[in-house]
Amino acid sequence: MPTYSRLPKSANFSKIYRFYDGINSLLTLGFDKSWREKASQQLTGSTVLDLGSGTGAAEKQLIGYEVTALDPDERMLSLNNFSNKILGSAEALPFDDKSFDNIYCAFVWRNVSDTDKAFKEIKRVLKDDGNFVLLDMTRPLNMFTKRLHKLGTFITLHLIGIVTFSFKQYRFLYTSLDKLEAPESFLKESGFNSYTLERMGIFGFVYLSVLKKS
Ligand SMILES: C[S@@+](CC[C@H](N)C(=O)[O-])C[C@H]1O[C@@H](n2cnc3c(N)ncnc32)[C@H](O)[C@@H]1O
Repeated sequence: MPTYSRLPKSANFSKIYRFYDGINSLLTLGFDKSWREKASQQLTGSTVLDLGSGTGAAEKQLIGYEVTALDPDERMLSLNNFSNKILGSAEALPFDDKSFDNIYCAFVWRNVSDTDKAFKEIKRVLKDDGNFVLLDMTRPLNMFTKRLHKLGTFITLHLIGIVTFSFKQYRFLYTSLDKLEAPESFLKESGFNSYTLERMGIFGFVYLSVLKKS
């Protein structure tokens, strides 16, 4: 597996990599699979870059595609069953221009240190008629449900952090939910020509976007 030196500081899943899939299902109340399913239905062509592939949670949804799994965290990748695995980050993609029909990116975006750089890199390695399928958690738009969501995630994530002796990591997961503006705002600055955006889940705390260069 090739190693790249400029990996982002935010890639801090190493300590919790063994529990990651279970915790993710718990936090999303098991809905993560159906959201991944919906996201994978937006794919086109045959090649997919699974950006921030982690432990390869999208394996089932990406069956039939030629997948390249990329992640900056070697331990997450050690549990990943895709055959083509690359250690790297979204901000410096080690691929030629127009290499992929799709970039699939699930539950990663709020961890990316420099999203402007990452948008540029994704646009560069995506084919002209390709799709950038972006799925992640955010905060609800409504002020009241946003507060409720903040309280719920504060309690749950800090508790899990204490129980698993990984307080710092789960604190990071909590704060990452507030790192970016709402997708309704930041997608306008993505540099892509067009995109769709749909909110899902309780209070709309998950979003799915398909961005196109054309
Ligand atoms: C919450 S996990 C999601 C993993 C997987 N995509 C899934 O759906 O379960 C976030 C992943 O993003 C990776 N990550 C963090 N910063 C990244 C970056 N700058 N570029 C690419 N991946 C990154 C982490 O190492 C971690 O494996």
